[in-house]
Amino acid sequence: MFRQAFILCSILVCFGQINCVLNPKVICYYEDWFYWRTGDGKMTVHDVDNTLCTHMVYGYQGIDRDSTIKLADEYLMKTLHDLDNFSKNKGKGQALVAIGGWSLSGGFTQVVSTDSDIRTFTNSIMSFLSTYNFDGVMLDWTPKGAFTSSENDGFVKLLSSIRTAFGAKYTLGITVSPVVTGLSVDRVDQYVDIIAVQTYDMHGSWEKQVGIGDPATWTLETMRQWYKDGASMTKLIATIPLYGHTWILADPNKYDIGAEATGPGKQGPWSQQDGKLGYNEFCMEVKADPTGWKQFRDEREMAVYAFCMEVKADPTGWKQFRDEREMAVYAVNGRNWISYEDGVSAGLKTTAITKEGFGGVVVQALENDDFKGLCGEKYPVLKAINKALNKDPVVSPTHPPPTAAPTHAPQVCTHEGLIRDPKDCHYYHKCVEMFPGIYSDDKLACDGVLVFDEKDGKCKERQLVPGC
Ligand SMILES: *[C@@H]1O[C@H](CO)[C@@H](O)[C@H](O)[C@H]1NC(C)=O
Repeated sequence: MFRQAFILCSILVCFGQINCVLNPKVICYYEDWFYWRTGDGKMTVHDVDNTLCTHMVYGYQGIDRDSTIKLADEYLMKTLHDLDNFSKNKGKGQALVAIGGWSLSGGFTQVVSTDSDIRTFTNSIMSFLSTYNFDGVMLDWTPKGAFTSSENDGFVKLLSSIRTAFGAKYTLGITVSPVVTGLSVDRVDQYVDIIAVQTYDMHGSWEKQVGIGDPATWTLETMRQWYKDGASMTKLIATIPLYGHTWILADPNKYDIGAEATGPGKQGPWSQQDGKLGYNEFCMEVKADPTGWKQFRDEREMAVYAFCMEVKADPTGWKQFRDEREMAVYAVNGRNWISYEDGVSAGLKTTAITKEGFGGVVVQALENDDFKGLCGEKYPVLKAINKALNKDPVVSPTHPPPTAAPTHAPQVCTHEGLIRDPKDCHYYHKCVEMFPGIYSDDKLACDGVLVFDEKDGKCKERQLVPGC
């Protein structure tokens, strides 16, 4: 047991030092419309911590009928100087602008339809970058279904045109769905620096059973498929969502992954979408009701650490180990169910992704992390991701002094583990730290008349336990 743990540790440490990716990327999406949120949900470009991102992406701009960039919110971006403020705040990182995305990618079909539209769009990008002092562009064109063959040819031409204009001076990235048909991946790959794969929303509240939004094994398989299809490993970037998927359980006692749900969970105050909660919204819920929530980690989603470039160079010399730490986390409170990413799961995923040789991670998006530090230190998830990339095999988040939770019940759980009930030795509490300083509290009883001994965590005869 000790020996095994030792071997596992040395492998982790070793892999930690032999980084498979030089300068892994942490690409952080900031979305302009959160400027208009109110209260603690409001986020401005000044809330972006430029020390935690290698690339900061300002999302999203649209495309006008004449194939030029159309500012999504001209008043905010130009009159209030949001774009200037964003690029001024880039620190040592790069400021990129995202064009397209979920609701604004409609114009791409037109852009790639003629050579003259391609030229116009390329020029429009060049003038945007110099006007607002940005370092590059992310094209988020994710057509539903498939690229037609003319869209594919046009897209390749567009990327080639932008690359020619950019030279090595600017960064060119694209965002793609997990599965894309009709795209010539190898042709696209030669022109771009970044291929960000949307490895999220694998499961969500549109389904009638609860599930993990971005299971690690699926994320890695998706990335491997892009690699097989012709994308360069270091250009491929996986996405880690900073929000969770929520459901209402059909039966509060059936809460395993796959359990039946009656519908999406209720919306949070800031994201305002059924079936979805930002990490920050969820941590506030747990803070308000710390004894109500139980946390679980999914043991089926395990990390595979032996895919390093080193292994490729010496395939017979290495043995494969599976890290027994879980990479997915979910929580239950009565009929409320959520799967999400915390610092531990996001750190593990980041490690797994980059150890395999992929170029880094994208986070979607900053406004969902605890950017204000409402539940502890600021940006706990993004910090854990950075920590995982700093060749440190220990990825659990650091613990700041806990912020005071509401005191509607005397708090038994002040650290992780099994704690005897202070009032009645027959009971004990299973305490799990869900957020820094915030614990879930599962009150359990010993069998019969037995009482709980904290020393070894066992239930015993009363006379054997001092103080009971
Ligand atoms: C941009 O920065 C300027 C100067 O600090 C400030 O006056 C302005 O309000 C900022 N704009 C936004 C949208 O935050």
